[in-house]
Amino acid sequence: MKDWRWACLGLVCFGLVLRIGAVERGRGQPTERISGSAGDVLEDDPVGRLKVFVYELPSKYNKKILQKDPRCLTHMFAAEIFMHRFVLSSPVRTLNPAEADWFYTPVYSTCDLTPNGLPLPFKSPRMMRSAIQLISSNWPYWNRTEGADHFFIVPHDFGACFHYLEEKAIERRILTLLQRATLVQTFGQKNHVCLKDGSITIPPYAPPQKMEAHLIPPHIPRSIFVYFRGLFYDVGNDPEGGYYARGARAAVWENFKDNPLFDISTEHPSTYYEDMQRAIFCLCPLGWAPWSPRLVEAVIFGCIPVIIADDIVLPFADAIPWEDIGVFVDEKDVPNLDTILTSIPPEVILRKQRLLANPSMKQAMLFPQPAQSGDAFHQILNGLARKLPHDKSVYLKAGEKVLNWTAGPVADLKPW
Ligand SMILES: *[C@@H]1O[C@H](CO)[C@@H](O)[C@H](O)[C@H]1NC(C)=O
Ligand SMILES: *[C@@H]1O[C@H](CO)[C@@H](O)[C@H](O)[C@H]1NC(C)=O
Repeated sequence: MKDWRWACLGLVCFGLVLRIGAVERGRGQPTERISGSAGDVLEDDPVGRLKVFVYELPSKYNKKILQKDPRCLTHMFAAEIFMHRFVLSSPVRTLNPAEADWFYTPVYSTCDLTPNGLPLPFKSPRMMRSAIQLISSNWPYWNRTEGADHFFIVPHDFGACFHYLEEKAIERRILTLLQRATLVQTFGQKNHVCLKDGSITIPPYAPPQKMEAHLIPPHIPRSIFVYFRGLFYDVGNDPEGGYYARGARAAVWENFKDNPLFDISTEHPSTYYEDMQRAIFCLCPLGWAPWSPRLVEAVIFGCIPVIIADDIVLPFADAIPWEDIGVFVDEKDVPNLDTILTSIPPEVILRKQRLLANPSMKQAMLFPQPAQSGDAFHQILNGLARKLPHDKSVYLKAGEKVLNWTAGPVADLKPW
């Protein structure tokens, strides 16, 4: 690991050492609560504000798929499984659909894994279609709104477009049958056909116990200025270069591989979590999707996330003050990253660190077992509660149909 204080000599660096030294001394300071509505929203309790009816589906839509491949419990889309378990035992659940505000159809759409553990969503459209066919014929609630008071958890890369390649995902668009529903998804990019207005953007799943096991004492100084581990190029999927991460990761590497302030590499060390706790800034550039689990890890480990992903929609953006805790750098400005970060005044860094130290911020990023108040499960429910009451216009007249059941790629229409 590079220690920038030793690697960095000369007058300019001396000034930097003094300033960041001040920041390190600040680590013992109390945490800071988010002021205003964001802080209130973060601490909201959804209980009593909404009632959710969970459709009981045959286990082939959920539990059987998980049985076939338990790795689905640990990958970054595991939120779909944990959310199902959580809602089943949550006080917001109602067994009486007549009094429900929201209907939840628990389909595990990202649990079909390759031997390498990569989720492929190719069966998901047919599975979703089949589940919707089932609920719409067995219960009267789907036909009332064609899904406008239903929510679905679709955590895969491009949400309900159900393809892992962006180009193909855009071509497919959001599955027709889900176009009136509320989508709870990890994907978040403004003005993208795969992100519907009114969707709830959630953090990817990162294992809480595993991260907790790697916590280091808080007085250990942050001696790394900028930290990043991960790919800069994806030669396998992007042989020409420039498409992966829209070139932003490549630009980080080309500009800063020899800069002593930057501790960046493709090697994933066993001290990865500890290193993030020893760093002031953690780079969170886009990859194939705008986000990665680094965003969650940075918040948990109090490392200021440097978000390089133009037009990203961040998780729970109405509750988490991302502008206050993070640094946003336009993709085109990556070559100036060193200047941008070294010119942030120490008091600004300190404030971001104090906000990051707020436990409710960390809690909102996690899906712990068992659930805890203020965690990501609660934030999802808060998001759903804030969308109530449903607008009267979502209720269709008897016999009225809006969705076209035969639209979309022909292969999606095959039975599942
Ligand atoms: C809902 O509409 C579909 C298609 O028109 C119909 O087949 C189904 O029987 C309806 N469901 C109920 C519960 O009436
Ligand atoms: C539904 O979509 C199919 C396939 O695109 C199209 O042929 C059909 O005309 C559409 N039906 C209606 C009622 O728009």
